[in-house]
Amino acid sequence: MTLLNLPEIQKKIDQLFTSENFRKEPIELYNPIDYTLKLGGKRIRPAMLLAACQMFGGDIERAYNAAIGIEVVHNFTLLHDDLMDRSPLRRGLPTVYTKWDENTAILSGDAMLILAYQYLTKDPHDNIHAIINTFNDMACEVMKGQQYDLNFEHRSDVSAEEYLDMIHLKTAALFIGALRIGGLIAHANAQDLDYLETFGHHLGLAFQIQDDMLDTFGDEAKFGKKPGQDIRDNKKTILLITALKQCTQSQQQELASWLQFSPADSDEKVHAVREIYNQLDIPRQMNQLIAHHYQMAQTALRQIEIAQSNKASMQQLMEQLLHRNK
Ligand code: IPE
Ligand code: IPE
Ligand code: MG
Ligand code: MG
Ligand code: MG
Repeated sequence: MTLLNLPEIQKKIDQLFTSENFRKEPIELYNPIDYTLKLGGKRIRPAMLLAACQMFGGDIERAYNAAIGIEVVHNFTLLHDDLMDRSPLRRGLPTVYTKWDENTAILSGDAMLILAYQYLTKDPHDNIHAIINTFNDMACEVMKGQQYDLNFEHRSDVSAEEYLDMIHLKTAALFIGALRIGGLIAHANAQDLDYLETFGHHLGLAFQIQDDMLDTFGDEAKFGKKPGQDIRDNKKTILLITALKQCTQSQQQELASWLQFSPADSDEKVHAVREIYNQLDIPRQMNQLIAHHYQMAQTALRQIEIAQSNKASMQQLMEQLLHRNK
């Protein structure tokens, strides 16, 4: 069986989404779904699923529906997340709740969760039960992570450990689910699925810390989201947690007063907090932490006892993520 490289996998995923028809009646329910799914984004989770399937000798054509399903469930989380975070922009365009309204983001999001199941159970695999269980555990973990993320907005004593547990749930769980489902379709053994899990865990942590960095220091034109939203929302990102631990008394007072002040839109707050992060050399420390988790992911990938050539597309995906600016 010839193995696809990462650009070929990504091209295939783009073709799948281009040829799929999401525009149904009533249009008020389905147009926002079409808007979100056709817009693209990086589509990394389906790439992970297909790369995992092919790594273990699975037939990736048999994994296309699951790949669409995993991207649809990711986009479901985004519709609700943007409403919860009050984010105006995604992928350079207005978020669903701002372009339409809150009810639309809720209901179209709900429909996407079910749509994801429909793709997952289309043309079912012999181990569909294990696949659905993995999917369900993954979805529950994401929701738990999202709840902790919201809870932490109202606390100022969140520890780095709590933050890492929270991002494991809200972000790494979806990576792990995609990887495990790809592995399950290829009938990978339990040991290899566990290595995939460790790989997805560290890749997910690195990815979310990068997202937090890009949210504060990224370029809106490339990142496609409005910078500073985490600061406006009082999110307990690892940037803020590290800053609160290392700051001087006067910086601590300044941060504390900004945390009391939460207008819907304040560029002044964003600039001031960003300035403290720079004074404390937070970007360099975060880049070290990101590199550490990429290293750990790399180690887990190496431990999988399979020819290096089978891992090539996964390796390429990891390298693409390491250098991302969007
Ligand atoms: C956004 O995910 C949500 C996070 C986990 C940070 P992506 O950065 O993968 O978003 P898209 O799908 O590429 O737009
Ligand atoms: C990502 O959280 C996790 C989920 C969406 C489930 P964020 O809130 O950081 O994601 P973005 O930055 O809005 O994409
Ligand atoms: Mg968000
Ligand atoms: Mg969020
Ligand atoms: Mg973010």
